Amino acid sequence: MARITAGIATSHVPAIGAAIDLGKTQDPYWKPVFDGYEYVKEWAKDNTPDVVILFYNDHASALMLDIVPTFAMGFADSFQSADEGWGRRPVPVVHNHVDLAAHIAEQLVIDEFDITLINDMDVDHGCTVPLSLVFGQPEEWPCKVIPFAVNVSQFPTPSGERCWKLGEAIRNAVKTFPEDLNVQVWGTGGMSHQLHGSRAGLINEEWDQRFLDLLANDPDELIPITRLEYLRETGTEGIELIMWLAMRGALGYGVEEKHRFYRVPASNTAVGNVVYEAKSKE
Ligand code: DHB
Ligand code: FE
Repeated sequence: MARITAGIATSHVPAIGAAIDLGKTQDPYWKPVFDGYEYVKEWAKDNTPDVVILFYNDHASALMLDIVPTFAMGFADSFQSADEGWGRRPVPVVHNHVDLAAHIAEQLVIDEFDITLINDMDVDHGCTVPLSLVFGQPEEWPCKVIPFAVNVSQFPTPSGERCWKLGEAIRNAVKTFPEDLNVQVWGTGGMSHQLHGSRAGLINEEWDQRFLDLLANDPDELIPITRLEYLRETGTEGIELIMWLAMRGALGYGVEEKHRFYRVPASNTAVGNVVYEAKSKE
């Protein structure tokens, strides 16, 4: 049977991708950020999954605002890195696990999640920067990836509670896939940041640190947080943290926190990274 063994959450700041691609990771500005990712890079060598289900948001790179799906699964065989205005990142093509994706899609619809299927798309920094942070710069990504896009671009965005329940539904779907697969769930985006307007540059470290504590130890406290609170406390883009709740919901209640990292500054974002292993491996 397939099982979810671990979860990772990380910010997906595009400038981090540029720093990697341009060989600037040891520059004084970036070194403390990349040092914080040494743990997950080492951990991933011993814990390479067969498949990652990667919750992220597309930033109007592949999903333009003409159609705004709330939850959308990548259904193509593979996904190229999107050109976000400065060329495609020089990273490997992302390969899907189409059989698992089809099974999850079927089970989600049975479970009353009416998701969108995307048969052709590119993946932007929300997907490729986390892959680079965890797996470095290989010729090929070492596992299959099912990109799962959550709308945080245009209201109404889903609530944190809805994302948590999506995670739970995906957990149940994975459990009933007959092939023996080691599956990880990743949530990307966050932590506090606001890119535009009069509050641009907003960082709320106290709120972020509490979120990190509760995500590991008492996630029930986080589930009811409203979209308004995310916007007010963490900035307009801080709402990307709802992807972390999808990841955490998919892991089940018992997790062992293997790593926690928090760093400001990194571009305009408070960068966070956590690594959780599921206690129950079923
Ligand atoms: C930044 C962060 C993001 O999450 C994003 O999607 C774009 C930019 C930033 O901090 O620059
Ligand atoms: Fe983002």
